[in-house]
Amino acid sequence: MTVKASERGTFSSKMGIILASAGSAVGLGNVWRFPTEVGNSGGAAFILIYIACVVLLGLPLMVAEFTVGRHTHANTVDAYRRLAPGTPWVAQGYLGVFTSWFILCYYSVVAGWTLKYLVASALAGPAGISGNTAYFESFTASPVEPIAYMVAVMAVCHVVIARGVEKGIERSSKLLMPLLLLIIAMLVVCSFSMPGSEAGLRFLLQPDFSCLTSDVVLSAMGQSFFSLSIAMGCLCTYASYFRDDARLMRTAVSVASIDTTVAVMSGFIIFPAVFSVADVEVSAGPGLVFITLPNVFRMAFASVPWLGWLFAMLFYMLLLLAALTSMMSIHEPTTAFLLEHFRWPRRVATRVVTLSCVAVGSLCSLSFGVLSGLRVGGLTLFELFDFISAKIFLPVGGLIIALFVGWRLPRRVVWEQATNGGTLRTRTFGLYMLLLRWVAPIAIVLIFCNELGLL
Ligand code: PHE
Repeated sequence: MTVKASERGTFSSKMGIILASAGSAVGLGNVWRFPTEVGNSGGAAFILIYIACVVLLGLPLMVAEFTVGRHTHANTVDAYRRLAPGTPWVAQGYLGVFTSWFILCYYSVVAGWTLKYLVASALAGPAGISGNTAYFESFTASPVEPIAYMVAVMAVCHVVIARGVEKGIERSSKLLMPLLLLIIAMLVVCSFSMPGSEAGLRFLLQPDFSCLTSDVVLSAMGQSFFSLSIAMGCLCTYASYFRDDARLMRTAVSVASIDTTVAVMSGFIIFPAVFSVADVEVSAGPGLVFITLPNVFRMAFASVPWLGWLFAMLFYMLLLLAALTSMMSIHEPTTAFLLEHFRWPRRVATRVVTLSCVAVGSLCSLSFGVLSGLRVGGLTLFELFDFISAKIFLPVGGLIIALFVGWRLPRRVVWEQATNGGTLRTRTFGLYMLLLRWVAPIAIVLIFCNELGLL
């Protein structure tokens, strides 16, 4: 069923478009996953490869997703239906909707943790959170508390989405994104001013190319896709609300620049702090921000404890805001699909998505405690959701988008979207097509094989 353009929401300004899309891209992937990957993969050399992946693969794929969304002004399923009716390409529309719903289920669990740590740091006062590993494990294993925090964050996301595109997503992005950038700037200044922070800066700025293995290159590619929110239906759905005068290539460059800057800045916040505390145990994965950092905050600011307290609260506030704006973009594809495809009122569609994600998300949360024995292929439910979405759906979706826009869509449509019907200059169009048709598909197949352990 089609919905008239006037009944759909539209972002009212170019700034709104950029901030909402950047809100989707900037998330836990930047503040939590990126510094962890940098730490595991040799610092500056990883960052350089990462930036190359953003430019050569991330940007063309982002413009391709924008193309599908803005050309059709429809939810992801109907977008592919309109562009390739009755063909297997429509499956990509369903995959986008399903992947975003699937990610929301477990992403909201971690978003709940960030709220818990914000509250706990605030209540702990200058003494900070202590006994970190045991604290983290007993919190995540508890059957009620993490679910309550997840529901609280989800409730905020729900309210925003229920208010619609302009009044909900655009307005909140315009408020939250500048706040997030301000917090980052404050934290970077704080982190640089710590004694001993030079070692962290050196680690981030001096590339050691001997650490570069094919594995590192491939994880940089995977990280860039996740961080830019590619292949999840989110950018395509947001682009369906873009006005016809929005410049797709320029928007993609702005979003990728903000996203990469925030990721690198998060490294600048975390590493000088970690390096300034000599004997802290650095753990990978969720441990870095939830176990290592509370120790770092306490020890690095031992002489001025109130500053450590402030630093900790600002840091968890940053994580929470970043997670929230990404959650909004992961909620919207399924909501838009239910709303337009089945003609449900937005209120009802939003409620169905929120409640179903809370139900399944609770199971993911319980998999750290009472359900930890429930395993599929050796993975807990939470790990399974992360594995399937980030390691299987993400590369498969990215590959299909590259092939669809690069090879299946008429070149004229792609050109019209990139140049706004020929009114913009097109110097990079040839390069964009080359990257989309050849470089991206080959690179994605490599990532996929690597993730599955075939390389
Ligand atoms: N890009 C977000 C992050 O960096 C995560 C995300 C993935 C958001 C997929 C939307 C879609 O955390």
